[in-house]
Amino acid sequence: MSTDDSLDPIFEDRNSRRFARIYDSMNERSERKLESVRSELFRHVTGNVVEIGPGTGTNLRYYNIAEHVTLVEPYSAMRRILSARVGTARNSNLFSIVDGRAESMPADSQSIDTVVSTLVLCSVPDLDRTLAEIRRILKPNGALVFLEHHVGNGIRSKTQHALTPFMKKYAANCHLDRNTPQAICNAGFSVQSVVAVPNDLSLRLLPSWPMTAGIAIAA
Ligand SMILES: C[S@@+](CC[C@H](N)C(=O)[O-])C[C@H]1O[C@@H](n2cnc3c(N)ncnc32)[C@H](O)[C@@H]1O
Repeated sequence: MSTDDSLDPIFEDRNSRRFARIYDSMNERSERKLESVRSELFRHVTGNVVEIGPGTGTNLRYYNIAEHVTLVEPYSAMRRILSARVGTARNSNLFSIVDGRAESMPADSQSIDTVVSTLVLCSVPDLDRTLAEIRRILKPNGALVFLEHHVGNGIRSKTQHALTPFMKKYAANCHLDRNTPQAICNAGFSVQSVVAVPNDLSLRLLPSWPMTAGIAIAA
């Protein structure tokens, strides 16, 4: 399932393994501020769910009303931490972990009620293909529940463009300069509700970037 020859390989190097190791401690402070955003978003996460790029499993504790959740994570360093966390989660029987990629997912067309993507669309090698794939697997009127950072305006966007090569290398292909909300709309989703994100979230050593959280419906 995870071997699709038309996709560039995912490179798992020393930097991406290190990124997985430090991910939770690096984000501890910003995660406290994101708790209310994630809680609000997950009120909309129902039915048969696919989460792309679950990483270390930050979202596991927010699943309350889903029926089943397939966690699609291509990086083995992330999957190892995720798997340990699923094992000890109160709701561990909800989850299956898959070695796969968001650009080519292990789900039939129109079979999924909700796709979850939090801080992932910045990292996928092919954003448009990922969004098309999400649309393919969602049922009519299914929901993409997302929380994503994206490019800002003016001097901020210049900084984001300048830092993106560094981030790609050291933060598992993270692009600071993608216009993700626009890409979601271009892919044929209509954003039905937006959840406010605190604007003072800074990651260690980095200023905060614009973020959008919301529910997009496959139009
Ligand atoms: C910044 S982390 C976000 C982790 C988690 N979703 C969160 O909210 O904290 C980005 C995640 O996207 C994953 N990722 C990168 N490329 C991907 C792809 N093509 N398909 C699915 N996940 C991918 C990475 O392995 C990593 O787990």
